[in-house]
Amino acid sequence: MTKFDPDEQAVPRSVAVIMDGNGRWAKRAGFERIRGHEKGIDAVRTTVTECARLGVEALVLYAFSEENWARPKREVEMLFRLLKRFLVEERDTLMDNNVQLLHSGRRERLAPDVLALLDETVAMTAGNTGMKLSLAISYGARQELVDAVQALARQVAAGELPPGAIDEDAISAALYQPSLPDPDILIRTAGEMRLSNFLLWQISYAELHVSDVCWPEFGAEQLHDAFRAYGRRVRSFGKVL
Ligand code: IPE
Ligand code: IPE
Ligand code: MG
Repeated sequence: MTKFDPDEQAVPRSVAVIMDGNGRWAKRAGFERIRGHEKGIDAVRTTVTECARLGVEALVLYAFSEENWARPKREVEMLFRLLKRFLVEERDTLMDNNVQLLHSGRRERLAPDVLALLDETVAMTAGNTGMKLSLAISYGARQELVDAVQALARQVAAGELPPGAIDEDAISAALYQPSLPDPDILIRTAGEMRLSNFLLWQISYAELHVSDVCWPEFGAEQLHDAFRAYGRRVRSFGKVL
């Protein structure tokens, strides 16, 4: 593996990943799509531990979108079976790496057993002081904004919030995980150049990095490549440097 020294290279404070291409990876290897999701868990473990080791403060992983509910029932069931396994089997990894687990997304459509394991793992890791890891499950950025607008509107209707006080900070604070800093880099695997309804508000100034490898093949080396590319970007935020 190529060396990546966090003292010499720029490490983004906040990272978001669209983990894509599990199905394609499996198909190419002659397996069913679910095998790609299964193998994708190894890639999640690698990315989580490597980001934590390098000092990333926050990592958001897109695991299941609002639109993914429209996939075949069997695939959805298998995905949630894997998620439940992940939430139990990766507890040691989260604890050993001082990672705090969070959830970004709507809870309504999640089954009670999924919610129970999610809440248990979130509670178990709540005292961890290292990296925050948010799993975006049943997540859609537009739905997140709808939920935020409704929450703010309720406060206005109750007379608790003057409409003029709704500024960028108020909107950010009404999102699912307001404690997470906006991503500095958005990584997407499997070569697709789209956002697929992910973090539309939060990525307004994120650097975009598309990796051609499918998610099950995304390892520390590909993560380092993404961070090196990030380090080469000139972030002027609209100003003249
Ligand atoms: C990403 O891989 C995982 C989820 C969306 C849950 P895909 O399942 O989208 O794989 P491709 O894009 O069909 O190859
Ligand atoms: C985005 O991938 C969602 C996740 C990675 C969870 P999709 O494969 O669902 O998105 P599209 O269909 O390429 O937009
Ligand atoms: Mg896909």
